[in-house]
Amino acid sequence: MRVLVTGGLGFIGSHLVRRLLAEPDLEVVNLDALTYAGNLANLADCASDAHYRWERVSVADRAAVRTVFARYQPFDAVMHLAAESHVDRSIQSGLPFVETNVMGTAVLLEAAREYRAGRFVQVSTDEVYGSLGSSGRFSESSPLNPNSPYSASKAGGDLLALAAYRTYGQDVVVTRCSNNYGPYQFPEKLIPLWVTNGMEDKPWPLYGDGAQVRDWIHVADHVEGLWRVLQHGRSGEIYNLGARNERSNREVAATLLAMMGLLPSTLVPVADRPGHDRRYAIDPSKAESELGWRPQHNWEPALAETVAWYRTHEEWWRAIKSGAYREYYREQYRTLATVRAEPQENP
Ligand code: NAD
Ligand code: DAU
Repeated sequence: MRVLVTGGLGFIGSHLVRRLLAEPDLEVVNLDALTYAGNLANLADCASDAHYRWERVSVADRAAVRTVFARYQPFDAVMHLAAESHVDRSIQSGLPFVETNVMGTAVLLEAAREYRAGRFVQVSTDEVYGSLGSSGRFSESSPLNPNSPYSASKAGGDLLALAAYRTYGQDVVVTRCSNNYGPYQFPEKLIPLWVTNGMEDKPWPLYGDGAQVRDWIHVADHVEGLWRVLQHGRSGEIYNLGARNERSNREVAATLLAMMGLLPSTLVPVADRPGHDRRYAIDPSKAESELGWRPQHNWEPALAETVAWYRTHEEWWRAIKSGAYREYYREQYRTLATVRAEPQENP
């Protein structure tokens, strides 16, 4: 079996590539442009695997994408993860998000049709459903109501994928997962940002009142769900993937502070993210009943293992944090020092 994975040098993509390569007789071609979020170190252990190839190509580059399909055809499956993935960056400028997440998805869908690839798995997010109040959960039939340029661009990609199923009968399945955590997550995202800041004696920025709720799932459970969807999902369907593990950001902070032996004053409220979604919660019962899939990781032990991974992989995250990321961090959190001077409520 030959699978084209896009975005395999990123956080979730690298876990997926490693999971696929564990299957006998499975070849992976990883199409990844190596943007700021991609990292060769994420797949250093696979680089010399005879079943693995990397092509440095942007999903939005139609000619280059067609060349990859022509070179390796036939692909038995396409698993599309490449994306601009960070909400805060999309607030700075939505254009790269439209280019990669909308245009890139359209280009890939077209190439997959032209070169008669097998199943196309569009890896998407619960953020396309928008924000919930204090009750309820998103099902696959919840209306699309994205609030950030990131989630709007992901919703655009999902609609193109579902339209390809209806218009051309293309074998498409869409997955929508909740917030992932685990090793190799780029430290712009909440958990690795706080954990690595903790190791650097830096404060933990908390947006707004910190009462926003996310449904946290370990990346290995997400990846296992994607593998099941590829094998057993029904064509044209959407599958929500989540762990029934809702935590407010203040709750995540309290757990991590205790795990890391840090003072509550480490947490520093800062200005809120514009359009900040209040709560996400996924109803994963369709994936559970149809695919026999269940998340296997329990929150506190898996979070402790994640903290331990960042402790034992300092060279991985220090290389990122000392590079171009420093400029982004300075710009994103430039209000931090002034807000920090005021007395703050602890979690
Ligand atoms: P990431 O930002 O860590 O990695 C993105 C990868 O895509 C990088 O390797 C990057 O180089 C590559 N990429 C970006 N633009 C590209 C382009 N134009 N052409 C080719 N490659 C490009 O992302 P992630 O957090 O691993 O997310 C992967 C996918 O899963 C995304 O589609 C995201 O929307 C989705 N998702 C993420 C989460 C989460 O919690 N992180 C949850 C649900 C869904
Ligand atoms: O729900 C799935 C989505 O989860 C994915 O589609 C996205 O790609 C992924 O980035 C993630 O989006 P979030 O915006 O939920 O993740 P982030 O880690 O950026 O933020 C998690 C929560 O923490 C959110 O409520 C914002 C808050 N936050 C974040 C940062 C970076 C802070 O309070 N302080 C911070 O410094």
